[in-house]
Amino acid sequence: MIVTTAQLSKHAYGKYAVGAYNINNIEQTMGLFRGCLDSQAPFIIQLSKGARQYSDKRMIEAVIRAADEIFPEAIYAVHLDHGDEATCYDCIDSGFYSSVMIDASHSPFEENIAITKRVVDRAHAKGLTVEAELGQLGGVEEDVVVDEGNACLTNPAEAVEFIQRTGCDALAAAIGTSHGAFKFKGQQSLHFEVIEQIEANLAAAGMQPVPIVMHGSSSVPQEEVRRINAAGGKIADSCGVNEDEYLPAAKLGVTKINIDTDGRLVWTRVHREFFRDNPGQFDFRPPGKVFMDEYAKFIAAKNVKLGSAGQLASLRAFLGK
Ligand code: G3H
Ligand code: 13P
Ligand code: ZN
Repeated sequence: MIVTTAQLSKHAYGKYAVGAYNINNIEQTMGLFRGCLDSQAPFIIQLSKGARQYSDKRMIEAVIRAADEIFPEAIYAVHLDHGDEATCYDCIDSGFYSSVMIDASHSPFEENIAITKRVVDRAHAKGLTVEAELGQLGGVEEDVVVDEGNACLTNPAEAVEFIQRTGCDALAAAIGTSHGAFKFKGQQSLHFEVIEQIEANLAAAGMQPVPIVMHGSSSVPQEEVRRINAAGGKIADSCGVNEDEYLPAAKLGVTKINIDTDGRLVWTRVHREFFRDNPGQFDFRPPGKVFMDEYAKFIAAKNVKLGSAGQLASLRAFLGK
């Protein structure tokens, strides 16, 4: 059942974070739905611009509709990840999405506000909510590369003005993470003080708390990386977010935690090992089946770390379903 992202945020706020997982194909979709039902967790499906172009946006949307029929107990939202203005409008007008993200974080502050406000107005008119980004994460997203020197944490004072003037429903805040598999040089802690200060400033301004979204939250498990490299991969010096920081972040108001890279690592490990161990094999379905199982296990374990595991019954009661 597709619900709104706002409903999921409201149930999660201050208690747990909903996993927002990027998908591109049938195998990821099957593994995601299975893993979330196995762990009894709500979830957010994220489609990036690249995912919508990979086969065809109608294809991936049809795959989600099919999964909805196959797994009628699943409760989830469908969200556009890192949208530009045109893609946001396309998703808003399609009637299929629960929410969109407008990412104008690479534009100057005033331009970010103007673009975000236009998207918010159009989305709200159709009952969708909007996530917007302020500050800059390092790493690679879509076709934009931000080197670590240019990445900057969200300024909490600016965040309040940004939320006030745009009316956005959730804020993607830069708190020290970055996209991809190479987040830090050595393990680093997240800048929780940025989240605390944003929520404190909102309260001081007499505003409602706004859910915070954590991008770039993959943990890049070192065992996964070791296995990929042992099977012929070359992923050196990778490093991710400590999974034990998800729940503390959730308690401070993070309701959505974005994970893509970790799922890609599962895919790479499964396929590298499979073809290493079965050099004569050229049927792609056997490794595809292994991947679906492994991806489901990965999702279920991640949901435990996010605190979303086991929340379905309470959410169902909350939604009156
Ligand atoms: O933040 C970006 C996500 O990992 C999506 O990646 O744009 O390559 O689909 P993508
Ligand atoms: P990772 O690259 O850490 O998985 O982040 C994904 C993300 O933020 C998608 O928007
Ligand atoms: Zn992101």
